[in-house]
Amino acid sequence: ARNSASVEERLTEICELLRENVDYYDWVGFYFKNGDKEELKLHSFAGEPTDHTIIPFGKGICGQVAVSNQNFVVPDVKAQDNYIACSINVKAEIVVPLFVDGENIGQIDIDSNTPDPFTQEDEAFLEWVNEKVARIVA
Ligand code: SME
Repeated sequence: ARNSASVEERLTEICELLRENVDYYDWVGFYFKNGDKEELKLHSFAGEPTDHTIIPFGKGICGQVAVSNQNFVVPDVKAQDNYIACSINVKAEIVVPLFVDGENIGQIDIDSNTPDPFTQEDEAFLEWVNEKVARIVA
C-alpha cells in the first residue's frame, strides 16, 4: 500500500502510547486481515514480541473477533477454551474490532497482567481509538 512504512510507524507509536500510559495495558497490538486469506496478521505492537503473528479466523480470542465483529472482553484467560497464550504472565485480554466503511478489517488487541481490569470505559475508549486508526489505514 502507498506509504505503508509510515502507517506502520504511526500504529506502533499508538501502541507504545497506550502501553506507556495505561498501567494495566501490558501488550498492545494491531492485527489486520491478511490480504484475501482467512487469517489475521500482526502489523504493529508494543510489549514483548509474540510468536503469534499469524492467527487463522476462528482461532483464539483474536480469531473469534475476526468472525463475530464484536468486542471480546476476557476477565480471566484461564477460563477460555479457545485462547492462544502469548505469555504466561497474561491474566486478561480485550479485543475490539476495527471497521472501515462498515467492514471488519482488523482489531486492536490488549493483554493485561492484571486480573479482570477491563471496563466498558476501555471498550468505549478503544472503539474511539479504532475510529481514528481507521482514518490512518483507509
Ligand atoms: N491471546 C490472543 C493471541 C494474541 S496474543 O494475545 C498477542 C488470542 O487468544 O487470540
